[in-house]
Amino acid sequence: MLRLLPLSTLLLIPAIIASPIDAPRAEPLPLIIWHGLGDNYAADGLQSVGELANETNPGTFVYYIRLDESPDSDRTATFLGNLTEQLEQVCSDLSAHPILSTAPGVNALGFSQGGQFLRAYIERCNNPPVKNLVTFGSQHNGIVKYQVCGSMDWLCKAYIGILKANTWGSWVQSHLVPAQYFRDTDEETGEPTLDYLESSNFLADINNERELKNVTYAENLATLDNFVMYVFENDTTVIPKESGWFAQTNLTSGEVTELRNRTIYKEDWIGLKKLDEKGALVFKTTPGPHMQIDDDVLEDVFKTYFAPKEAASDTRRPHHEQEFMEL
Ligand SMILES: *[C@@H]1O[C@H](CO)[C@@H](O)[C@H](O)[C@H]1NC(C)=O
Ligand SMILES: *[C@@H]1O[C@H](CO)[C@@H](O)[C@H](O)[C@H]1NC(C)=O
Ligand SMILES: *[C@@H]1O[C@H](CO)[C@@H](O)[C@H](O)[C@H]1NC(C)=O
Ligand SMILES: *[C@@H]1O[C@H](CO)[C@@H](O)[C@H](O)[C@H]1NC(C)=O
Ligand SMILES: *[C@@H]1O[C@H](CO)[C@@H](O)[C@H](O)[C@H]1NC(C)=O
Ligand SMILES: *[C@@H]1O[C@H](CO)[C@@H](O)[C@H](O)[C@H]1NC(C)=O
Repeated sequence: MLRLLPLSTLLLIPAIIASPIDAPRAEPLPLIIWHGLGDNYAADGLQSVGELANETNPGTFVYYIRLDESPDSDRTATFLGNLTEQLEQVCSDLSAHPILSTAPGVNALGFSQGGQFLRAYIERCNNPPVKNLVTFGSQHNGIVKYQVCGSMDWLCKAYIGILKANTWGSWVQSHLVPAQYFRDTDEETGEPTLDYLESSNFLADINNERELKNVTYAENLATLDNFVMYVFENDTTVIPKESGWFAQTNLTSGEVTELRNRTIYKEDWIGLKKLDEKGALVFKTTPGPHMQIDDDVLEDVFKTYFAPKEAASDTRRPHHEQEFMEL
């Protein structure tokens, strides 16, 4: 794992010399991370992401969102639960947290379904407020197929049958998590089905697809400094993968309608157009299958979007850095 430390150290030194006053740098904002389906908040892989964030921006406080202190139960909650209630719990946990609640804001990193859940947190609660949201392989425009369970995944297998048989039933919509971001459309018109609009317990609401729009959702989301959406180039788990960019895919023809050509954007149901107009909406791809992320991609995200802003009193001039970097 080559992290190019010597090079970045070299580049930093001249920048510091060029600064006439050693202006203090602001502290990095705390980072909240919401994991994906089948994962848990205490998992080594997830914790190592937080460690990398702290290594990249030293002093970063990391909070791993959980529905239960027991990792097993937290994992179960990725399949089982009513997302309305799960979000209420997360909103209440974050607003009561001694460090997060007193910070001027937080940054947010969402993996897979954790990405659209963090977006829902911003739309519905946003206390403490999120400044930068980065999502990897999320299902912002829902899924049209349920993912295939891993061979050892007994819990997933036990429920997937019920899911497929009765997605729009109220028991399923209040108990099975992936059903709450399932979204089906009419093959001819491309419009979402009436079943979805009437029964979706989560996605139809947070995407403001119903007649009655909640303006708070759009106002809250539009306050972000950046909303960065990564799609995995070779994602075969999220169907369609372009959901990660709020695009809609015709699975028969393969044709993709980009967000900017969709009503949710044109009528700005959730603030995406406003974000785009201020240059805050970022569409990115990263190579590989679902949730395979290289450290250098994460490091780049942490440097670009989660690094502390320089203090206002910092008089360092960019052209000084430029001169030295050319040496
Ligand atoms: C961040 O890194 C520092 C230095 O290694 C360590 O002391 C601190 O406990 C870390 N903080 C978190 C939240 O991991
Ligand atoms: C809109 O969302 C806000 C934030 O969650 C909530 O307080 C409010 O009750 C909602 N308004 C309607 C009309 O549902
Ligand atoms: C999910 O929970 C909310 C809040 O308790 C409740 O109002 C809603 O009816 C539940 N959803 C379903 C589909 O039962
Ligand atoms: C999707 O593609 C099929 C095959 O090309 C076409 O018949 C259908 O009308 C398309 N649906 C929409 C909504 O464009
Ligand atoms: C991954 O996706 C890219 C872009 O669509 C494609 O060029 C590449 O061949 C794919 N790689 C694999 C291993 O499927
Ligand atoms: C939007 O749709 C028009 C045709 O309806 C097409 O020419 C254009 O490329 C599309 N733009 C995007 C961003 O998808």
